[in-house]
Amino acid sequence: MQSDQVRNIILVGFMASGKSSVARAISRRCHWPRIDADEEIVTRARKPISEIFKDSGEDAFRTLEREVVSDICSETGRIISPGGGSFMDEENRRVMLECGTVFYLSAQPETIHWRITRGNPNAPVRPLLGAGNPLARIKELLAERAPVYSQAHHKVETDGLTSDQVAQAILKICGPGIRQYI
Ligand code: S3P
Repeated sequence: MQSDQVRNIILVGFMASGKSSVARAISRRCHWPRIDADEEIVTRARKPISEIFKDSGEDAFRTLEREVVSDICSETGRIISPGGGSFMDEENRRVMLECGTVFYLSAQPETIHWRITRGNPNAPVRPLLGAGNPLARIKELLAERAPVYSQAHHKVETDGLTSDQVAQAILKICGPGIRQYI
């Protein structure tokens, strides 16, 4: 990758793969503003994601998500963290791959499960993991999604790393080209 090609840094990956915290860590280091697609969806819908799913269903959420992804990717010099399912959509994928350098933050199912529950079996579960056995659902969904996440420009394995370490790895890959927007 030529360093002058970095227009946006876009972080994709499963829920709790660290997209938001890594985006904050990168933003602190390079001073590009951070945009979180789920936060933007919540602002536009004026309700939490879990309520959008409950009141209007997943399809309505995905429609809103597509609008938000298209809007936020039209800027440059941003650290963008979209929701974990957004990259599964072909149109979102095309937009993201065109508008920025896309990093897949990968993590093992057990790591994801621990990050979601912090070891607390009664921790609230994300809408898509539903009732039942969350680790089994994470394994199943991740097996479906991992080949698609792998279409990102780069993959960074996050197991055992802090957000700062992942941010450093990403900035190293980006090289000095990122400075052009500072
Ligand atoms: C989703 C991930 C969530 C949120 C929604 C759907 C998914 O975002 O967009 O609950 O399909 O994986 P995070 O990845 O930020 O948890």
